This record gives sequence, C-alpha cells and structure tokens, in this order.
Amino acid sequence: MKGLLAGIDARVVGKAMRNPSRAMLRLVLRARLARTGADEERRRLFAFLSEHYGVDAVELADEYHQSDFFAWFRERRAALERFPGPYRLGTTGEFGCEALYLLVRAARPRVVVETGVLYGASSAHILAALVRNGGGELHSLEIGRDPREPPHHHFVPRELQRHWTLVIGDSRHELGPLLKRYAPVDMFLHDSLHTFDHMTWEFETALPYLSPAGMLLSDDVLNPPSLLGVFRETAFPAFCKRREVPYATFKNLGVAIPAMAGRANYGAFAPAEVRLSRSA
Ligand SMILES: C[S@@+](CC[C@H](N)C(=O)[O-])C[C@H]1O[C@@H](n2cnc3c(N)ncnc32)[C@H](O)[C@@H]1O
Repeated sequence: MKGLLAGIDARVVGKAMRNPSRAMLRLVLRARLARTGADEERRRLFAFLSEHYGVDAVELADEYHQSDFFAWFRERRAALERFPGPYRLGTTGEFGCEALYLLVRAARPRVVVETGVLYGASSAHILAALVRNGGGELHSLEIGRDPREPPHHHFVPRELQRHWTLVIGDSRHELGPLLKRYAPVDMFLHDSLHTFDHMTWEFETALPYLSPAGMLLSDDVLNPPSLLGVFRETAFPAFCKRREVPYATFKNLGVAIPAMAGRANYGAFAPAEVRLSRSA
C-alpha cells in the first residue's frame, strides 16, 4: 500500500479530485506495475537484447548512466517538477526511458516514428541513442499543448534537435501520411492516446510500413483502457496475438518484432544469469 501511494502529493490529489475515474485508472496501473519487479524486468530486457541483437546490454546500460545526456536529463526532470505553470503527468518513467535508449542502441534503427511527445522524454532518449549509433532520424507526432505548459522539446537537448522532426497534429490524420513519407520504418513507438481503439488503430496503421526487421513498440501496455475495461486484455497483447506477431512486455513497455514469427516467445524469456550492472 505504501508503494502504491508513493509520490502522491497535493498537486496529484487535486488532479484526482477533478477527475476521479482517471485517478482510479492510475491506481489500477500502479497496482499492476507494483507486481512487476524492476530488477527482474531489467534482467529480462537485457537478456532479450543480448540474445536477439548480440550486444552487451550491461555495457550499453553503463554507457547510458555515465553519459552527459543522462545527467542533463535528470536535471530537466527536476526542472519540470519545479515548473510554476500547468504541466501534465505522463512523462515516461526511468525504466521506460532507459529501455528505449537500450533498444535503439541495440537494434540500430535508421528511421524511427513515434506518436505522443508531451515534453520530449521518449524523443530525447531515442535521439541520444541514434546519435550515439552514428546517425538516424526521428519523426514525432503530437497533438499539441496548452501554451502555458513546458514546450514539447523540454527534454530534448539542442544538439539533438537537428535529427528530429516534430509534427503537430492528430495522429488519426497525420500518422498514415507520415509513415508513407518515411517508410520503411525501422522502429515505431506508440505513446499517444491510450484507448483500446486508438492504440489498435495505430498498430494496424504502422505495421505495413515496418522494414523487414522492424520493431513495433508501445508504451503503457498495462494501462487499463477504461473502468469497464479493467478486466479486458489490453490493446497491445490483443493486437499481437490477433496478428500473430511475437512480442514481449517489459514493465509498461511492449516490444513486438514481426520478423521473429515462428521463433521464441520472448514474453517467457528470463534467464537468471544475466547481470544488471558490471558490479552486480
Ligand atoms: C503519455 S504522453 C507521451 C509521453 C512521452 N512520450 C514521454 O516520453 O514523456 C501522451 C501524449 O500524446 C498526445 N496525444 C494524445 N492524443 C493524441 C493524438 N490523437 N495524436 C497525437 N498525439 C496525441 C498528448 O497530447 C500527450 O502529449
């Protein structure tokens, strides 16, 4: 119970009182996340990256934690918490940010498309990893913000922004044309509107534009879509099963690789011998 309520301050309580059903859904999500141990999930992710891409995931994680980008990002997270004006919750957490960096470093995509930027946490991690890989491009789609909020590039260092295009618009209208323009896409990340229908629509829209070894990622795979949908299977596993696309989830991040069809089910892949850091 103590863990479930961690980080809940007056600001969060105020938001909950204004929108109780949303607060309820957040509590369900917290309970689901509390059931997935961060260390075990990291171990599974490292094992997946090492096995599938032949990388030393521990070394990549060390590189991430020792980078100037990581230090800068932490400062920006603290700056967001001190922001005097309105800002929304929903920035990708530590686990998701590290996972995105590692996935991009391991899979080395050239063209990445994402939906849902908010203040740019996922965008910044994808860009930092692309640049460390030696190049690549990220095209992001975001419906927009209240002008009093922090900018969409709050988390994106200036030197990474030249590898980035940000389209402001509804993914329902803009995603198809964007994918068509930059296809084949090596990595697609959904992190916009987390309703069952919208998530499914984005996955279906992106799938035909993926390159042969392309990866489909989704944040918020554990989020219950609605109060009535709490006991229903969430959109990401439902889509992957229906399309017979092999997938795994690591905490709240879903990873699907259509080209792995017929191979191992990484959802069940968790060898115990994988270390989490050089010192472990
Ligand atoms: C969970 S936040 C994204 C978090 C971000 N990826 C990060 O790493 O911090 C979801 C974002 O999706 C945007 N969004 C919601 N519906 C959308 C739509 N139909 N098209 C594009 N963006 C949308 C919201 O404005 C919000 O900024």
